[in-house]
Amino acid sequence: MPEAVLERAAADMLDWHDREGRASGMSVMEMSHRGREFVSICEQAEADFRALLAVPEHFHILFLQGGGLGENAIVPMNLSRGGIADFVVTGSWSAKSQKEAQRYCEARVAASNAETGFTRLPEASGWRLSSEAAYVHICGNETINGLEFQELPDLAALGSAAPLVIDFSSHVASRPVDWRRVGLAFGGAQKNLGPAGLTLVVVRDDLLGHALEICPSAFNYRIVADNRSMYNTPPTWAIYIAGLTFQWLLQQSEDGFTGVAAMERRNIAKSGLLYDFIDGSALYDNKVAPGSRSRMNVPFFLADESRNEAFLAGARAAGLLQLKGHKSVGGMRASLYNAMPLAGVQALVAYMREFERLHA
Ligand SMILES: Cc1ncc(COP(=O)(O)O)c(C=O)c1O
Repeated sequence: MPEAVLERAAADMLDWHDREGRASGMSVMEMSHRGREFVSICEQAEADFRALLAVPEHFHILFLQGGGLGENAIVPMNLSRGGIADFVVTGSWSAKSQKEAQRYCEARVAASNAETGFTRLPEASGWRLSSEAAYVHICGNETINGLEFQELPDLAALGSAAPLVIDFSSHVASRPVDWRRVGLAFGGAQKNLGPAGLTLVVVRDDLLGHALEICPSAFNYRIVADNRSMYNTPPTWAIYIAGLTFQWLLQQSEDGFTGVAAMERRNIAKSGLLYDFIDGSALYDNKVAPGSRSRMNVPFFLADESRNEAFLAGARAAGLLQLKGHKSVGGMRASLYNAMPLAGVQALVAYMREFERLHA
Protein backbone atom coordinates (compact mmCIF):
# COMPACT_ATOMS: atom_id res chain seq x y z
CA MET A 1 0.00 0.00 0.00
CA PRO A 2 1.29 3.52 -0.71
CA GLU A 3 2.16 5.14 2.61
CA ALA A 4 0.28 8.31 1.66
CA VAL A 5 -2.92 6.25 1.32
CA LEU A 6 -2.48 4.64 4.74
CA GLU A 7 -1.77 8.04 6.33
CA ARG A 8 -4.88 9.56 4.78
CA ALA A 9 -7.02 6.62 5.93
CA ALA A 10 -5.53 6.86 9.43
CA ALA A 11 -6.32 10.58 9.63
CA ASP A 12 -9.93 9.91 8.60
CA MET A 13 -10.36 6.67 10.54
CA LEU A 14 -12.71 8.09 13.18
CA ASP A 15 -14.25 10.91 11.19
CA TRP A 16 -14.27 10.90 7.39
CA HIS A 17 -13.90 14.28 5.66
CA ASP A 18 -15.07 15.00 2.13
CA ARG A 19 -12.93 16.68 -0.53
CA GLU A 20 -13.92 20.12 0.73
CA GLY A 21 -12.75 19.14 4.20
CA ARG A 22 -16.27 18.86 5.69
CA ALA A 23 -16.45 16.35 8.56
CA SER A 24 -19.04 13.58 8.31
CA GLY A 25 -19.00 12.71 12.02
CA MET A 26 -18.42 9.01 11.33
CA SER A 27 -15.89 6.48 10.10
CA VAL A 28 -16.33 5.07 6.57
CA MET A 29 -16.99 1.72 8.29
CA GLU A 30 -19.99 3.25 10.05
CA MET A 31 -21.63 4.69 6.93
CA SER A 32 -24.71 3.30 5.27
CA HIS A 33 -23.67 2.13 1.82
CA ARG A 34 -26.69 3.98 0.43
CA GLY A 35 -25.99 7.20 2.31
CA ARG A 36 -24.87 10.38 0.55
CA GLU A 37 -21.32 10.12 1.90
CA PHE A 38 -20.56 6.58 0.84
CA VAL A 39 -22.30 6.96 -2.52
CA SER A 40 -20.00 9.92 -3.23
CA ILE A 41 -16.93 7.80 -2.24
CA CYS A 42 -18.06 4.95 -4.49
CA GLU A 43 -18.90 7.13 -7.49
CA GLN A 44 -15.59 8.96 -7.19
CA ALA A 45 -13.70 5.66 -6.99
CA GLU A 46 -15.43 4.39 -10.12
CA ALA A 47 -14.75 7.61 -12.04
CA ASP A 48 -11.11 7.66 -10.93
CA PHE A 49 -10.58 4.03 -11.95
CA ARG A 50 -12.14 4.77 -15.34
CA ALA A 51 -9.81 7.75 -15.78
CA LEU A 52 -6.78 5.86 -14.52
CA LEU A 53 -7.11 2.95 -16.94
CA ALA A 54 -8.86 4.89 -19.74
CA VAL A 55 -11.81 2.50 -19.58
CA PRO A 56 -14.17 3.30 -22.49
CA GLU A 57 -17.80 4.23 -21.80
CA HIS A 58 -19.15 0.97 -23.22
CA PHE A 59 -17.50 -0.96 -20.39
CA HIS A 60 -19.07 -1.26 -16.93
CA ILE A 61 -16.89 -1.10 -13.83
CA LEU A 62 -18.30 -3.41 -11.16
CA PHE A 63 -17.27 -3.64 -7.52
CA LEU A 64 -17.85 -7.18 -6.31
CA GLN A 65 -16.66 -9.67 -3.72
CA GLY A 66 -15.39 -13.22 -4.02
CA GLY A 67 -11.86 -12.53 -5.27
CA GLY A 68 -10.11 -13.92 -8.31
CA LEU A 69 -11.12 -17.45 -7.43
CA GLY A 70 -14.74 -16.40 -7.14
CA GLU A 71 -14.51 -14.94 -10.65
CA ASN A 72 -13.25 -18.30 -11.92
CA ALA A 73 -16.85 -19.46 -11.41
CA ILE A 74 -18.67 -16.14 -11.90
CA VAL A 75 -17.19 -15.48 -15.34
CA PRO A 76 -18.31 -18.80 -16.88
CA MET A 77 -21.71 -18.44 -15.20
CA ASN A 78 -22.13 -15.05 -16.88
CA LEU A 79 -20.40 -15.53 -20.22
CA SER A 80 -20.24 -19.18 -21.24
CA ARG A 81 -23.98 -19.79 -21.88
CA GLY A 82 -23.10 -23.36 -20.93
CA GLY A 83 -21.13 -23.79 -24.16
CA ILE A 84 -17.40 -23.74 -24.86
CA ALA A 85 -14.69 -21.52 -23.40
CA ASP A 86 -11.00 -21.59 -24.37
CA PHE A 87 -8.23 -21.31 -21.79
CA VAL A 88 -4.58 -20.48 -22.32
CA VAL A 89 -2.82 -22.19 -19.44
CA THR A 90 0.41 -20.44 -18.50
CA GLY A 91 0.79 -21.17 -14.79
CA SER A 92 -0.98 -21.95 -11.53
CA TRP A 93 -3.72 -19.32 -11.77
CA SER A 94 -4.90 -19.95 -15.32
CA ALA A 95 -4.79 -23.70 -14.61
CA LYS A 96 -7.11 -23.10 -11.65
CA SER A 97 -9.42 -20.96 -13.79
CA GLN A 98 -9.74 -23.68 -16.42
CA LYS A 99 -10.42 -26.36 -13.80
CA GLU A 100 -13.14 -24.34 -12.06
CA ALA A 101 -14.85 -23.36 -15.32
CA GLN A 102 -15.37 -27.04 -16.15
CA ARG A 103 -18.20 -27.02 -13.63
CA TYR A 104 -20.18 -24.59 -15.79
CA CYS A 105 -19.11 -25.13 -19.38
CA GLU A 106 -16.81 -27.08 -21.66
CA ALA A 107 -13.52 -25.47 -20.65
CA ARG A 108 -10.97 -26.35 -23.32
CA VAL A 109 -7.21 -25.91 -23.07
CA ALA A 110 -6.33 -23.95 -26.21
CA ALA A 111 -2.66 -23.81 -25.32
CA SER A 112 -0.45 -24.72 -22.39
CA ASN A 113 3.16 -24.21 -21.46
CA ALA A 114 3.13 -26.88 -18.75
CA GLU A 115 5.81 -28.86 -20.63
CA THR A 116 8.20 -25.90 -20.25
CA GLY A 117 7.61 -25.96 -16.49
CA PHE A 118 5.62 -22.74 -16.96
CA THR A 119 8.69 -20.79 -18.05
CA ARG A 120 7.69 -19.49 -21.50
CA LEU A 121 4.37 -18.12 -22.78
CA PRO A 122 2.99 -20.19 -25.66
CA GLU A 123 3.15 -18.37 -29.01
CA ALA A 124 -0.31 -17.02 -29.84
CA SER A 125 -0.03 -18.22 -33.44
CA GLY A 126 -0.07 -21.82 -32.12
CA TRP A 127 -3.17 -21.51 -29.92
CA ARG A 128 -5.94 -23.95 -30.86
CA LEU A 129 -8.92 -21.63 -30.56
CA SER A 130 -12.43 -23.05 -30.90
CA SER A 131 -14.60 -21.35 -33.51
CA GLU A 132 -17.62 -21.61 -31.16
CA ALA A 133 -15.94 -20.39 -27.98
CA ALA A 134 -17.98 -17.97 -25.87
CA TYR A 135 -14.74 -16.44 -24.62
CA VAL A 136 -10.98 -16.95 -24.39
CA HIS A 137 -9.37 -16.73 -20.94
CA ILE A 138 -5.81 -15.69 -20.15
CA CYS A 139 -4.07 -14.76 -16.92
CA GLY A 140 -2.29 -11.49 -17.69
CA ASN A 141 0.27 -12.01 -14.94
CA GLU A 142 0.99 -15.38 -13.38
CA THR A 143 1.75 -14.30 -9.82
CA ILE A 144 3.32 -17.57 -8.68
CA ASN A 145 5.30 -18.53 -11.78
CA GLY A 146 6.37 -15.00 -12.71
CA LEU A 147 5.14 -14.81 -16.33
CA GLU A 148 3.37 -11.81 -17.85
CA PHE A 149 1.85 -11.06 -21.23
CA GLN A 150 3.78 -8.06 -22.54
CA GLU A 151 1.05 -7.50 -25.11
CA LEU A 152 -2.54 -8.66 -25.09
CA PRO A 153 -3.35 -11.15 -27.85
CA ASP A 154 -5.34 -9.80 -30.78
CA LEU A 155 -7.94 -12.56 -31.01
CA ALA A 156 -9.48 -11.14 -34.19
CA ALA A 157 -6.10 -11.41 -35.92
CA LEU A 158 -5.93 -15.04 -34.76
CA GLY A 159 -9.26 -15.72 -36.46
CA SER A 160 -11.41 -15.75 -33.32
CA ALA A 161 -14.50 -13.62 -32.77
CA ALA A 162 -14.62 -14.50 -29.07
CA PRO A 163 -14.14 -11.84 -26.40
CA LEU A 164 -10.91 -11.97 -24.41
CA VAL A 165 -11.20 -12.44 -20.65
CA ILE A 166 -8.17 -11.41 -18.60
CA ASP A 167 -7.41 -12.19 -14.99
CA PHE A 168 -5.47 -9.02 -14.16
CA SER A 169 -5.45 -9.59 -10.38
CA SER A 170 -1.72 -9.17 -9.94
CA HIS A 171 -0.80 -6.50 -12.49
CA VAL A 172 -3.85 -4.25 -12.74
CA ALA A 173 -2.83 -0.59 -12.90
CA SER A 174 0.83 -1.47 -13.43
CA ARG A 175 0.55 -0.78 -17.18
CA PRO A 176 -2.08 0.57 -19.59
CA VAL A 177 -4.74 -1.82 -20.99
CA ASP A 178 -5.64 -1.95 -24.68
CA TRP A 179 -9.41 -2.22 -24.23
CA ARG A 180 -9.96 -2.79 -27.96
CA ARG A 181 -8.68 -6.33 -27.37
CA VAL A 182 -10.64 -7.02 -24.18
CA GLY A 183 -14.17 -8.22 -23.41
CA LEU A 184 -13.80 -8.55 -19.65
CA ALA A 185 -11.05 -8.07 -17.09
CA PHE A 186 -11.26 -9.11 -13.45
CA GLY A 187 -9.03 -8.98 -10.44
CA GLY A 188 -8.86 -8.92 -6.69
CA ALA A 189 -7.80 -5.50 -5.39
CA GLN A 190 -5.30 -6.78 -2.87
CA LYS A 191 -2.12 -6.60 -4.95
CA ASN A 192 -2.03 -3.19 -6.59
CA LEU A 193 -5.23 -1.42 -5.59
CA GLY A 194 -6.12 -1.83 -1.95
CA PRO A 195 -6.98 -4.28 0.79
CA ALA A 196 -8.47 -7.73 0.26
CA GLY A 197 -12.24 -7.96 -0.02
CA LEU A 198 -12.87 -6.02 -3.23
CA THR A 199 -13.00 -7.62 -6.67
CA LEU A 200 -13.04 -5.43 -9.77
CA VAL A 201 -14.75 -6.50 -12.96
CA VAL A 202 -14.58 -4.40 -16.10
CA VAL A 203 -17.01 -5.81 -18.62
CA ARG A 204 -18.12 -4.78 -22.10
CA ASP A 205 -21.77 -3.85 -22.35
CA ASP A 206 -22.76 -6.53 -24.88
CA LEU A 207 -21.53 -9.31 -22.56
CA LEU A 208 -24.16 -8.57 -19.92
CA GLY A 209 -27.49 -10.37 -19.78
CA HIS A 210 -26.40 -13.91 -20.69
CA ALA A 211 -26.01 -15.41 -17.21
CA LEU A 212 -26.94 -19.03 -16.57
CA GLU A 213 -30.09 -19.64 -14.50
CA ILE A 214 -27.96 -20.98 -11.64
CA CYS A 215 -25.94 -17.75 -11.37
CA PRO A 216 -26.55 -16.06 -7.98
CA SER A 217 -28.24 -12.68 -8.46
CA ALA A 218 -25.48 -10.97 -6.47
CA PHE A 219 -22.96 -12.23 -9.07
CA ASN A 220 -25.08 -11.61 -12.15
CA TYR A 221 -23.18 -8.85 -13.95
CA ARG A 222 -26.40 -7.43 -15.49
CA ILE A 223 -28.01 -7.06 -12.07
CA VAL A 224 -24.86 -5.69 -10.44
CA ALA A 225 -24.39 -3.18 -13.28
CA ASP A 226 -28.04 -2.06 -13.19
CA ASN A 227 -27.62 -1.42 -9.46
CA ARG A 228 -24.28 0.43 -9.78
CA SER A 229 -22.59 -2.25 -7.63
CA MET A 230 -25.14 -1.73 -4.84
CA TYR A 231 -27.40 -4.73 -5.43
CA ASN A 232 -26.12 -6.03 -2.13
CA THR A 233 -23.86 -4.26 0.35
CA PRO A 234 -20.52 -3.73 -1.38
CA PRO A 235 -17.19 -3.97 0.52
CA THR A 236 -17.32 -0.32 1.57
CA TRP A 237 -14.01 -0.06 3.40
CA ALA A 238 -12.08 -1.78 0.60
CA ILE A 239 -13.73 0.48 -2.01
CA TYR A 240 -12.78 3.54 0.05
CA ILE A 241 -9.12 2.50 0.34
CA ALA A 242 -8.98 1.50 -3.34
CA GLY A 243 -10.44 4.93 -4.16
CA LEU A 244 -7.63 6.62 -2.24
CA THR A 245 -5.15 4.43 -4.11
CA PHE A 246 -6.67 5.43 -7.47
CA GLN A 247 -6.19 9.09 -6.52
CA TRP A 248 -2.60 8.40 -5.48
CA LEU A 249 -1.97 6.60 -8.77
CA LEU A 250 -3.47 9.46 -10.79
CA GLN A 251 -1.06 11.86 -9.08
CA GLN A 252 2.10 9.86 -9.85
CA SER A 253 4.49 11.12 -12.52
CA GLU A 254 7.70 9.74 -14.01
CA ASP A 255 9.77 10.87 -17.02
CA GLY A 256 6.95 13.15 -18.17
CA PHE A 257 4.36 10.35 -17.88
CA THR A 258 1.52 10.33 -15.37
CA GLY A 259 -0.81 7.78 -13.76
CA VAL A 260 -0.57 4.23 -15.02
CA ALA A 261 1.96 5.19 -17.72
CA ALA A 262 4.19 6.54 -14.93
CA MET A 263 3.74 3.30 -12.98
CA GLU A 264 4.73 1.36 -16.08
CA ARG A 265 7.99 3.33 -16.37
CA ARG A 266 8.73 2.67 -12.72
CA ASN A 267 7.85 -1.01 -12.98
CA ILE A 268 10.12 -1.43 -16.02
CA ALA A 269 12.97 0.20 -14.10
CA LYS A 270 12.35 -1.82 -10.92
CA SER A 271 12.05 -5.22 -12.58
CA GLY A 272 14.88 -4.47 -15.05
CA LEU A 273 17.23 -3.73 -12.17
CA LEU A 274 16.46 -7.03 -10.47
CA TYR A 275 16.49 -9.22 -13.60
CA ASP A 276 19.79 -7.69 -14.78
CA PHE A 277 21.35 -8.40 -11.44
CA ILE A 278 20.05 -12.01 -11.34
CA ASP A 279 21.18 -12.68 -14.92
CA GLY A 280 24.68 -11.41 -14.13
CA SER A 281 25.02 -13.44 -10.95
CA ALA A 282 26.38 -16.96 -10.48
CA LEU A 283 24.32 -17.63 -7.32
CA TYR A 284 20.81 -16.57 -8.39
CA ASP A 285 18.72 -17.89 -11.24
CA ASN A 286 15.37 -16.90 -12.81
CA LYS A 287 14.10 -19.63 -15.14
CA VAL A 288 11.54 -17.62 -17.11
CA ALA A 289 12.30 -16.78 -20.77
CA PRO A 290 13.12 -13.05 -21.06
CA GLY A 291 10.12 -12.17 -23.26
CA SER A 292 7.72 -13.87 -20.83
CA ARG A 293 9.01 -12.36 -17.58
CA SER A 294 6.74 -10.57 -15.14
CA ARG A 295 7.43 -7.03 -14.02
CA MET A 296 5.43 -7.66 -10.86
CA ASN A 297 6.61 -11.01 -9.51
CA VAL A 298 10.20 -12.17 -9.87
CA PRO A 299 10.78 -15.77 -8.71
CA PHE A 300 14.42 -16.72 -8.26
CA PHE A 301 16.43 -19.63 -6.93
CA LEU A 302 19.75 -19.94 -5.17
CA ALA A 303 22.23 -22.27 -6.90
CA ASP A 304 22.76 -23.81 -3.45
CA GLU A 305 19.27 -24.26 -2.02
CA SER A 306 20.62 -25.32 1.37
CA ARG A 307 21.26 -21.60 1.88
CA ASN A 308 17.61 -20.60 1.46
CA GLU A 309 16.90 -20.21 5.17
CA ALA A 310 20.07 -18.19 5.73
CA PHE A 311 19.12 -15.97 2.79
CA LEU A 312 15.63 -15.32 4.19
CA ALA A 313 16.85 -14.73 7.74
CA GLY A 314 19.43 -12.19 6.55
CA ALA A 315 16.82 -10.51 4.38
CA ARG A 316 14.42 -10.20 7.32
CA ALA A 317 17.19 -8.69 9.44
CA ALA A 318 17.74 -6.13 6.65
CA GLY A 319 14.02 -5.25 6.63
CA LEU A 320 13.34 -7.14 3.38
CA LEU A 321 10.16 -9.13 4.01
CA GLN A 322 7.96 -11.69 2.28
CA LEU A 323 10.64 -13.03 -0.06
CA LYS A 324 9.89 -16.73 0.34
CA GLY A 325 8.65 -18.28 -2.90
CA HIS A 326 5.20 -19.83 -3.19
CA LYS A 327 5.16 -23.31 -1.65
CA SER A 328 4.28 -24.92 -5.00
CA VAL A 329 7.42 -23.49 -6.64
CA GLY A 330 9.94 -23.03 -3.83
CA GLY A 331 12.91 -20.69 -3.91
CA MET A 332 12.32 -16.96 -3.56
CA ARG A 333 9.90 -14.46 -5.03
CA ALA A 334 10.17 -10.69 -5.01
CA SER A 335 6.83 -8.99 -5.59
CA LEU A 336 7.33 -5.51 -6.98
CA TYR A 337 3.80 -4.15 -6.89
CA ASN A 338 3.07 -0.51 -7.65
CA ALA A 339 3.57 0.72 -4.11
CA MET A 340 7.10 -0.73 -3.93
CA PRO A 341 9.53 2.12 -4.63
CA LEU A 342 12.70 1.72 -6.71
CA ALA A 343 14.65 2.19 -3.46
CA GLY A 344 13.09 -1.07 -2.18
CA VAL A 345 14.46 -2.99 -5.17
CA GLN A 346 17.84 -1.27 -4.83
CA ALA A 347 17.95 -2.40 -1.19
CA LEU A 348 17.08 -5.97 -2.23
CA VAL A 349 19.79 -6.04 -4.92
CA ALA A 350 22.36 -4.63 -2.48
CA TYR A 351 21.46 -7.36 0.00
CA MET A 352 21.60 -10.10 -2.65
CA ARG A 353 25.00 -8.86 -3.84
CA GLU A 354 26.39 -8.90 -0.32
CA PHE A 355 24.93 -12.36 0.39
CA GLU A 356 26.56 -13.68 -2.78
CA ARG A 357 29.91 -12.15 -1.86
CA LEU A 358 29.81 -13.72 1.59
CA HIS A 359 28.75 -17.14 0.31
CA ALA A 360 30.70 -17.39 -2.94
C1 LIG B 1 -3.48 -13.94 -10.88
C2 LIG B 1 -4.33 -14.34 -9.72
N1 LIG B 1 -5.57 -14.80 -9.93
C3 LIG B 1 -6.36 -15.17 -8.92
C4 LIG B 1 -5.93 -15.09 -7.62
C5 LIG B 1 -6.84 -15.52 -6.50
O1 LIG B 1 -7.36 -14.41 -5.94
P1 LIG B 1 -8.25 -14.43 -4.61
O2 LIG B 1 -7.37 -14.95 -3.53
O3 LIG B 1 -8.60 -12.99 -4.47
O4 LIG B 1 -9.42 -15.31 -4.87
C6 LIG B 1 -4.65 -14.60 -7.32
C7 LIG B 1 -4.18 -14.49 -5.94
O5 LIG B 1 -3.02 -14.31 -5.66
C8 LIG B 1 -3.83 -14.21 -8.41
O6 LIG B 1 -2.59 -13.75 -8.19
